[in-house]
Amino acid sequence: MQTIRQLLQLRETIAAWRAAGLRVALVPTMGALHDGHMALVDSAKRNADRVVVSIFVNPRQFGEGEDLQRYPRREQADSRMLTEAGADLLWMPDVDAMYPDGFDANIHIGTVSEGYEGAHRPGHFDGVATVVAKLFNQVRPDVALFGEKDYQQLAVIRKMVTDLDFGIDIVGVPTQREDDGLALSSRNIYLIDEDRQAAVALPRALGVAARDIARGGDVEAALAQARETLEKAGFEVDYVDIVRESTLGPHDPEAPSRLIAAAKIAGTRLIDNIVVEMA
Ligand code: PAJ
Repeated sequence: MQTIRQLLQLRETIAAWRAAGLRVALVPTMGALHDGHMALVDSAKRNADRVVVSIFVNPRQFGEGEDLQRYPRREQADSRMLTEAGADLLWMPDVDAMYPDGFDANIHIGTVSEGYEGAHRPGHFDGVATVVAKLFNQVRPDVALFGEKDYQQLAVIRKMVTDLDFGIDIVGVPTQREDDGLALSSRNIYLIDEDRQAAVALPRALGVAARDIARGGDVEAALAQARETLEKAGFEVDYVDIVRESTLGPHDPEAPSRLIAAAKIAGTRLIDNIVVEMA
């Protein structure tokens, strides 16, 4: 696997692939890679001839007081994992090249970015959309892969690609989980011992609520129950809600639905979501 840090070199390498008629996939990440990211790489390999993975810890999507400084950085281990997984190119731009002095652009995707994570992390999705738009323009992939783990992010990216005519296929990859159900996340390393054990309440509470609702149970009661379970497990809940899939608009019992949640345990903020399988 080739590691590239200069935009010119990236463009030349990808232009050569394109000239050879190869289909290019992009997997954007912030590094500290785990099997969730690797599922994206696997899917990328099935969807394209060449796989580019970007690692860039994007300062613009972290709010004041968030974990930008302590976000894990593990270049060597990441590079090894990507080589083993069969990625072709690791794109690692540095912050000054991405955001040179005077950088003054911002992409705001409307309604889909404004509730839930957007409401709790002001500016977060502007930072995500802006950096992903830059990565798309740098790599010009045919297809890009994102995890369902960050369900609202996936919806924001889909909307950006549609509204701004990027002409890139967006593939969503199902959430990869630990054996006990906790969604894999680079932030799970912040959780130790009993907090890690308590964290499993998040996927469990969502699973119970999804089953209740799928069986025709009262939606508000199921959401209240999930919230209570999380609070009892020691979580401080930001939101637990049921939304329409893809738009994250208000729940419609006739349309495909998802339960989404964000909650903090011992200072670590976790998000998760689960599909509501209707009979
Ligand atoms: P990061 O958190 O590193 O995640 C990179 C990609 O991996 C995202 O598409 C995310 O949804 C996916 N992912 C993370 N955990 C996953 C899991 N357990 N199962 C499946 N997919 C998982 O998301 C970001 O970085 C950034 O916001 C980024 C898109 C790179 C823009 O900076």
